[in-house]
Amino acid sequence: MSAAHEKIIIALDVETLEQARELVGSLTGAVGAFKIGKQLFTRCGPDAVAMVHAAGGRVFLDLKYHDIPTTVALAGCEAARMGVFMFNVHALGGSAMIAQTVKAVRTMAKEAQAPAPLILAVTVLTSMAQADLAELGLHDPVEQVVVRLARLARDAGADGVVASPREIRLIKEACGPEFVVVTPGIRPATADLNDQKRAMTPAEALAAGADYLVIGRPVTHAPDPAAAARAIAAELEACRAC
Ligand code: C5P
Repeated sequence: MSAAHEKIIIALDVETLEQARELVGSLTGAVGAFKIGKQLFTRCGPDAVAMVHAAGGRVFLDLKYHDIPTTVALAGCEAARMGVFMFNVHALGGSAMIAQTVKAVRTMAKEAQAPAPLILAVTVLTSMAQADLAELGLHDPVEQVVVRLARLARDAGADGVVASPREIRLIKEACGPEFVVVTPGIRPATADLNDQKRAMTPAEALAAGADYLVIGRPVTHAPDPAAAARAIAAELEACRAC
């Protein structure tokens, strides 16, 4: 990663393609990528991805695939065919699902002589607490489950994980510095927390080892989204310099 702004991924959590287009228009060049999740993709489909690409941006397709290995591998190939920069699967889908997806996507990219997208795994949804895991028969402490699933994803060939800021250090220790960690739950010191309960500032997340920061409302709800993104990039740059 060359510049700090490349680490910023903006969550396009909006209802319509027009709203997304407006944000992308004001932010392309100021950030590293745009996250398209289940809401926008269910509403607009591949048009949303094409819109970001047409504006010169990169896409993190956040659809969290979790199904039998063949189905996820084929879905992953379709994500790669759209030219996304990164997409994700649930680590709880298991190592066979991840390994088959990684193999299929990399083979396809090689044949097409195109760069393969980064394949990330979601370990434990941060909305899940200890009691929610126990309900599923997972009785270890959440951090242990997260690290176990991160190792499983790495061993199955995934490029990295999506994880909460407070898990970054543990994951980097367990999986190595090259294993990519993408983290949401980021709030500049001056921003509203919204519904994020254990947020870190961009600089804190970077210092903890995050490779990419997913940021939504502090930028998308700002009166001037481009200025908000530039301020975050400046905070990251200052942290890298220190
Ligand atoms: O607006 P905000 O910065 O909170 O948006 C963060 C984005 O990251 C949203 O798209 C949200 O769904 C996603 N996310 C999150 N916390 C997680 C996992 C994903 O906020 N633990």
